[in-house]
Amino acid sequence: MKLLFYFLLAFGFIACTNNKIDQNTESVDSTYITRGNALAKISFEALSGELKRAIQNGGIEHALKYCNENAYPLTDSLSQANHVSIKRVSNRYRNPGNKADKMEEFLIKGFGNDLNEEKEITPRLVLKEDSVIFYKAIITQPLCLTCHGQPEKELAFSTDTLIRRLYPRDKAIGYEANQVRGLWRIGFKKELR
Ligand code: HEC
Repeated sequence: MKLLFYFLLAFGFIACTNNKIDQNTESVDSTYITRGNALAKISFEALSGELKRAIQNGGIEHALKYCNENAYPLTDSLSQANHVSIKRVSNRYRNPGNKADKMEEFLIKGFGNDLNEEKEITPRLVLKEDSVIFYKAIITQPLCLTCHGQPEKELAFSTDTLIRRLYPRDKAIGYEANQVRGLWRIGFKKELR
């Protein structure tokens, strides 16, 4: 009887500590998800705000050159200000510096399938040795197609020509609205875990 008592006590203790660990991991994960979502949102708003302003100020081609010169400085300064690494990656990239790796291509495919099946597309965390990477799908909207759409449809001939001049190996045209254009990739140094 006494033995059974100790057994139950030990078992209960293990069960409780296990529970605690699980809850803890979950809350750390949700902290990264919350921070990732917030950073993806401010980055998107900063980029698309600048984009819209550039279009208003000088039209599509001016905005294209503006993105060419300012997309990186903008995400870099947001990264520095927030002590994280903020990037955009794509399987069909315009800037070769944004090329998705194999794992990221796999995530893009998965998000694309979810989108086709009208499932909710939720961000993912990937754990590395010393960092946690947050990934969130970037979905095309009608506005995006003026620079990422079908040639001779949404993409004007002059825009297409300028894209080829600035990015001779561009892969980022031919999109429709509501497709996965790429991913936000936000890297956190692993301090919270
Ligand atoms: C005025 C033209 C223009 C419009 C409109 C535009 N983009 Fe882009 N986009 C660019 C250029 C130029 C780059 C490459 C920037 C660089 O060199 O870093 C780019 C790069 C990207 C990238 C990074 C991956 C890559 O291919 O290099 C993503 C993701 C992206 N755009 C998504 C979007 C989305 C989503 C929209 C709509 C909300 C949009 N873009 C609208 C011109 C545009």
